[in-house]
Amino acid sequence: MTAALADQARLDLPGHWPAALGPRALAELDAATPFLATDLSTVAARYAAFTAAIPGVSTFYAMKCNSAADVLGTLAALGSSFEVASVGELRILREIGVDAAEVLFSNPIKPPAAIVEARRAGLWRFSFDSEGELHKLAQHAPGAAVYVRLRVDDSTSLFPLSRKFGAEAHEARALMLLAREVGLRPYGVTFHVGSQCATTSAWRQAIAAAGRLMAALAEDGVRLEMLDLGGGFPARYVERVPSLGQIADTVNPALDELLPYRPPLLAAEPGRHLVAESAVMVASVLGREVRAGENWLYLDVGAYNGMMETQQTVQQWRFPLWTSRPDHALVPHLPFTVTGPSCDSSDTMFYGVNLPSTIDVGDRLYIGSAGAYTLSYASSFNGFPPPEPVSVGAPHARRDTP
Ligand SMILES: Cc1ncc(COP(=O)(O)O)c(C=O)c1O
Repeated sequence: MTAALADQARLDLPGHWPAALGPRALAELDAATPFLATDLSTVAARYAAFTAAIPGVSTFYAMKCNSAADVLGTLAALGSSFEVASVGELRILREIGVDAAEVLFSNPIKPPAAIVEARRAGLWRFSFDSEGELHKLAQHAPGAAVYVRLRVDDSTSLFPLSRKFGAEAHEARALMLLAREVGLRPYGVTFHVGSQCATTSAWRQAIAAAGRLMAALAEDGVRLEMLDLGGGFPARYVERVPSLGQIADTVNPALDELLPYRPPLLAAEPGRHLVAESAVMVASVLGREVRAGENWLYLDVGAYNGMMETQQTVQQWRFPLWTSRPDHALVPHLPFTVTGPSCDSSDTMFYGVNLPSTIDVGDRLYIGSAGAYTLSYASSFNGFPPPEPVSVGAPHARRDTP
């Protein structure tokens, strides 16, 4: 057993915690806090597990989730394709040698200039969910392939998206016919069950809805070339979530049973599931105070420079936490409110979390499952820098390396 594994077994770390990022291994990393330590071998393993669990479905990693160069490089080297929300993301991919023709542009509302630039770069597939966007696409990317985003039930996800995006089924059919009329290629259908989706039945219902749309369009003489299952595949924080196996046990039969035909491309856009559990946020304690009888810890990372999702979901979920204190597992723990470094109180991340009573200035807090929507959300509010990405584990080989 490696030292890191022994560490982990002995300490009984909460949730999933990569063996390579146990407390002892983290203490040995020579980097200034805050930093996000990522185990690239976990990213690679998650990708391999995902593609094996849902065979025949091509992965388009949603890079908005974490666009650190090593994460993108690792996934590209393994053969992943990518989904982008903006032309800025597309530029990053092109810099590392990804062919724009392999990329999906799944933001349903795009700036005209982004459509033009993406099209020039060779990207040819664009999502949409409205008539306005169709006309924009017809004007700026004539002849492009378009896939309609269906509104589906995302009520069991932690981050629902269906108020902002998605066409109702009857609208989607009419929109795809309009796409044909305006000279676009009615290419596919997509949906998003919401990020960190908690029920497997959400995928079955969404696939059923996509299947009904495919059948209706077949009556209109439109045969779709792509079904894109979107993202939403959950990651483990502290609470249990449906496993990849359980999701696959729902998705695979649904694809067999609920589609009128199998489109040539089945796609998925996982983000969080591939990267969240691969990384640990490492922060230092800047201050410890008692305010109105409450224990407060002030860290050099907060909601604004990395942990935004804690603010979006106050008290709805828990990140696995550990500290650098050698007595972490030996001393009594007290409830703490854990806040960030800024002068704003809404950068507070955790309320009532139990941490060692001995924790003090200079100690480090390790926030597990922090690989998703952390770096990519981080601002420099109040002049506090975003966490630096630090990678451990197998280095990626670039795709073009012989
Ligand atoms: C269009 C689209 N695809 C994929 C994703 C990735 O979602 P997740 O990280 O939950 O897998 C998102 C996230 O919001 C998205 O907007």
